[in-house]
Amino acid sequence: MRTAITGGTVVTAIETVLADVLIEGEIVVGVVHPDSEMTRTFAEGADRVIDAQGKFVVPGGIDAHTHLQATGQIAPVLETFETGTVASAFGGTTTIIDFAFMSGDERLPDGYERHRENAAGECAVDYGFHIMVANVDEQSPKEMDLLVREGVTSFKMFMAYPGRVYSDDGQILRMMQQAAENGSLIQMHAENGIAIDVLREQAAERGDIEPLFHGVTRTPILEAEAVHRAIALSEVAGSPLYIVHLSSSNALEEVVAARDRGLNVFAETCPQYLFLDLSDLDRPDFEGSKFVCSPPLRPQEHQDHLWRGLRTNDLQVVATDHCPFCWEQREIGRNDFRSIPNGLPTLEHRMELMFQGAVAEGRLSLNRWVDMCSRAPAKMFGLYPRKGTIAPGSDADIVVFDPNSPHTLSVETHHMNVDYSCYEGMRMTGQVEKVLLRGKVVVDGTEYLGTKGDGQYLPRDICSNLL
Ligand code: URP
Ligand code: ZN
Ligand code: ZN
Repeated sequence: MRTAITGGTVVTAIETVLADVLIEGEIVVGVVHPDSEMTRTFAEGADRVIDAQGKFVVPGGIDAHTHLQATGQIAPVLETFETGTVASAFGGTTTIIDFAFMSGDERLPDGYERHRENAAGECAVDYGFHIMVANVDEQSPKEMDLLVREGVTSFKMFMAYPGRVYSDDGQILRMMQQAAENGSLIQMHAENGIAIDVLREQAAERGDIEPLFHGVTRTPILEAEAVHRAIALSEVAGSPLYIVHLSSSNALEEVVAARDRGLNVFAETCPQYLFLDLSDLDRPDFEGSKFVCSPPLRPQEHQDHLWRGLRTNDLQVVATDHCPFCWEQREIGRNDFRSIPNGLPTLEHRMELMFQGAVAEGRLSLNRWVDMCSRAPAKMFGLYPRKGTIAPGSDADIVVFDPNSPHTLSVETHHMNVDYSCYEGMRMTGQVEKVLLRGKVVVDGTEYLGTKGDGQYLPRDICSNLL
């Protein structure tokens, strides 16, 4: 199957060029000048020519932080591998890296194997896994080595959620030492969960039980403290460190200071911390519960700092932390914010939201948009250059993006399996128009053209992003 995407502007993290993209089967074989001989002969013999006049042609997005079919919380995530990845395809994200988790007294490889079975044959986009680590003991570092050899090269640890997935500093240091040996990347949920639990309990005792108090008790000071401590532990271990879902200017300052000292410290933020804020948790009639995630939404003044961090590359990656819960599941915590399941639905909207905030509103360049949504996560998580760019030899995961197609985000039109939108009514300037997964057109406007199981499992290399 030969496909030519003609007349568009190809945008990668590095350059913006008027070029045609030539695809043979699943692979890009050329990015060439529109008037070249190669384009002419290729287009003549092509099975399909996609006209991208006036559109951007960008590498498929990579969302490095999703929780599909997760069951570790108060309520199960009802977004399945099938529903979540179809929504992902509609949003121009052609690769996800999902979190496999250990339940009960499972070992590290058990969670991975269960998650792989659940995902097999279900996914609409390509997928890999990180592991959520709990119950660290003397076996855990060896299990980590085993998984790295299988292509699972990143491990999330928690300084939050005592009694569930929390690890203490000794457990974290031990895993970081092993990561320094085997080349894997420790991802940190950095919030001081022990101190936060005291504040949560005190709030509930006072009768402060509304969703807003979820935000108020998880103060940014305790996010920054945990980031600082995680950096210190990784420096001692000599391992790189990646902070997930960084939400506050306080935490960002710690990352900036570490990077200024030349440490291999990286961080991601999420659209919710750039577009939503603490006041959303205070919406009346328990509506605020729709916005409960951890770390929580912050006062609006944090947002400029995060945009600046993206501009200076102190924040490298934008991922969604997609972890949706329906309204009925939120209701579990109506009488106590501590019982509201944590996580927001964003997977489908990341590319368009980030185009809006970055490019349409003039904060960042087109290339930076592609970098933080595609190339940086590919490099960070061992998928580059197969993914994250449009170049000869890379997978033909491609989005034809219309920069001038105003539309409104809404539960009425999204494909995520959740009965509200945290972005309801938000106006977007640009829109995903066509999506190719390894050369196959899987989305064309509002039509889904893929087949269940199109997505392939991706064993990953180690991070290729070190300073
Ligand atoms: O609230 C969140 N972020 N839920 C998902 C689990 C996590 O900590 O990433
Ligand atoms: Zn987390
Ligand atoms: Zn998460």
